[in-house]
Amino acid sequence: MTKKLWGGRFKSEQDPVFWQFQSSIDYDKELAEYDIEGSIAHVKMLDKAKIIPKKQAQSLLKVLSQILKSIQNNTFKIDPKAEDIHTAIYLAIKKKLDKTADYLHTARSRNDQVVLDLRMYCKDKLSLVISQVKKLQLALVNLAKSNMDVVIPGLTHTQHAVPILLSHQILAYVSMLERDAERLSGARERSDEMPLGSCALAGTSFTIDRKYVAKLLGFSTLSENSIDAVSDRDFVIEALSATSIMFMHISRFCEDMILFATSEFDFIDISEAYCTGSSIMPQKKNPDALELIRGASSKAYANLNSCLVMMKGLPLAYNRDMQLDKEPLFSSIKLSEDALTILTGLVKTLKIKRESIVRNLEQDQSIFALDIADYLVNKKMPFTEAHKVTGKIVAYAIDKNLKISNLPIAELKKFAKEFGEDIYKVFDAKRSVMSKRSIGSTNPLLVRQQIDKWLKKLKG
Ligand code: ARG
Repeated sequence: MTKKLWGGRFKSEQDPVFWQFQSSIDYDKELAEYDIEGSIAHVKMLDKAKIIPKKQAQSLLKVLSQILKSIQNNTFKIDPKAEDIHTAIYLAIKKKLDKTADYLHTARSRNDQVVLDLRMYCKDKLSLVISQVKKLQLALVNLAKSNMDVVIPGLTHTQHAVPILLSHQILAYVSMLERDAERLSGARERSDEMPLGSCALAGTSFTIDRKYVAKLLGFSTLSENSIDAVSDRDFVIEALSATSIMFMHISRFCEDMILFATSEFDFIDISEAYCTGSSIMPQKKNPDALELIRGASSKAYANLNSCLVMMKGLPLAYNRDMQLDKEPLFSSIKLSEDALTILTGLVKTLKIKRESIVRNLEQDQSIFALDIADYLVNKKMPFTEAHKVTGKIVAYAIDKNLKISNLPIAELKKFAKEFGEDIYKVFDAKRSVMSKRSIGSTNPLLVRQQIDKWLKKLKG
């Protein structure tokens, strides 16, 4: 049986299996530094407001910074009696200061303490993830910039659709990541509220100075309702939601790259640094980094789901269930950091196989079908009729096993009298992309403008 720490009222010991079951120290030690920083601010405030004696406050501050150092250089010893990091730190202070340690918990509960730590963690980590998103965006923009001359078959239904600039497709991911950065910033903004002073749920009878604590810890605002403050985990769920959507995006990018690296596409070469071999097939160079990131998106979604479900039926205010928010949050942040770092490296070292892409495009002239139809529309044919005519030509060429561009003009004229010698200019992928004019289209001049806009934004 184990002696209860916060157990003045208890007569009997705790069941050892339950004790293990309720312990969160294995994972919430991740919050150690935030916990100390929070305690330092709290003690400074208690001292300034003359709620605890100056001498005790000074001893507490001294010991707190010693413990912070020991955490930073990995020499901090966790007392086996500690069920969580907040208690472990309290016990470490108690060991050095005995009774003085007990002044620390004036006007503070673990309920507001744990939210404070989590909010500090989210603010820090979300800033880091946002900066990593920006790095990936920059790597993608640079890749787009140095491959402006590459035209690939654009796909719908994973079938050849129309020629597009490779750079245009790469920039699609930059736009997606921009929305991710905005969502992550939103989650960070909502984390930026100082909950300390809410205590267990009702606030305190002491004349504490919450604004001073917020200022010391760099928070922009105070939580406005003490009950909400200790029972709210929206900011965690928002962080998990923003990282889930981001994983959906990077997972789709991974899928595109996996396809492009197949021998069927053969558009790209992925650096060996991000591939593995096979234990039996000596020729294999497998894109495991991309596959694992695609796979990890399932973990990100599971983390979001577990917190949503954990929170949904909880009565106000704090309930112990909420301890289970930490592992999903830490997991999604770590996955995001790793995935973004790996992808940035992978993008920076990606080789584009220009000749192979050109060969792929030359194999299939049906990719110019829309260009042929647009040609007829420019000769004043209604679009739906042009669509029908072009469809017939495509089918005819397939039947005869001919390239459309090899059909003589007389033969083309049998399909539509509008055809003239200038039709043969249409079978040119570069011309096709140049012909696009609408804002946001694959026209190289417009894509170039987008690249300049992104470079200015991401480097500025
Ligand atoms: N380890 C707990 C958590 O993470 C700390 C809060 C404990 N509060 C309490 N009333 N038992 O949620």
